[in-house]
Amino acid sequence: MAEFMVIGVIGAGQMGSGIAQLAAVAGADVRLLDKDAEALLTAKRSISDSVQRFVSKGQLSKERGTDAVARVKYTSNLEDLQSADIVIEAIVESEDVKKKLFAELDKIVKVSAILASNTSSISITRLASATKRPHQVIGMHFMNPPPIMKLVEIIRGAQTSDETYNKTKTLAERFGKTVVCSKDYSGFIVNRILMPMINEAFYTLYTGVATKEDIDAGMKLGTNQPMGPLQLADFIGLDPKKGKPKEKPVKESKPKEKESKPVEKESKDEKKTE
Ligand SMILES: NC(=O)c1ccc[n+]([C@@H]2O[C@H](COP(=O)([O-])OP(=O)(O)OC[C@H]3O[C@@H](n4cnc5c(N)ncnc54)[C@H](O)[C@@H]3O)[C@@H](O)[C@H]2O)c1
Repeated sequence: MAEFMVIGVIGAGQMGSGIAQLAAVAGADVRLLDKDAEALLTAKRSISDSVQRFVSKGQLSKERGTDAVARVKYTSNLEDLQSADIVIEAIVESEDVKKKLFAELDKIVKVSAILASNTSSISITRLASATKRPHQVIGMHFMNPPPIMKLVEIIRGAQTSDETYNKTKTLAERFGKTVVCSKDYSGFIVNRILMPMINEAFYTLYTGVATKEDIDAGMKLGTNQPMGPLQLADFIGLDPKKGKPKEKPVKESKPKEKESKPVEKESKDEKKTE
């Protein structure tokens, strides 16, 4: 961890707390920042519980677990990130809010520090434009939950330097992750492909093509995925803070019959799904 002794993580929610845990287990001193004190308390509990589970399963020694938990410092003060070698941002998915934060961070952190974003979909080039160090801004997209999922997508903005890319890749590998690299296009690799699939699974259910069980079993066994798209959507979940309907719930309506007809005969041209 020579390159990154101190790692700042901003946003102590689902993703930020998991990223902070990974960094601490990898031996870095972590500053986990959230504007909400309650989020910090919840993160502290969740990191401690999660590390404990790794220890109980024999995947982490007791000493390393205790050391990791002690390495995370919790704060709401941006100035506490001054010593960070890299800051990984995992706050709300809003371009305006993230840009404002990047502009503030740019003034506070060391000249050499890298600013990474865990955004799922916002342009890294546009986030970088809020700073005076666009060559040191990069996307570091962890999967949920970060301590478990093996992948990190790294996204290079238009001006991200090779040095920034190489250091960030090395860090992700030290976290035990496999890295894939995406250009800065909406959804990057994983969500660009996954979201249309999940959307189509909803539509397949909505139009009455098949039951939810058959849709999931079809995709699981037919395309060799560990779980079907509807089950995966349940895992991803809806944002509980955004999910409250403001108006009356819409009455359930019958699926439109015209939308989709069952295939009666397979046309000669149709390929079989492997
Ligand atoms: N949840 C996922 O499955 C997932 C997966 C990959 C990437 N992401 C991305 O990670 C980011 C965080 O997602 P999450 O699910 O952890 O969200 P979350 O709602 O669980 O946590 C966000 C945290 O950020 C804090 N926050 C918001 N604005 C802040 C600010 N200006 N300064 C400091 N703290 C602030 C909130 O108080 C909250 O605790 C988003 O960009 C999201 O798109 C999420």
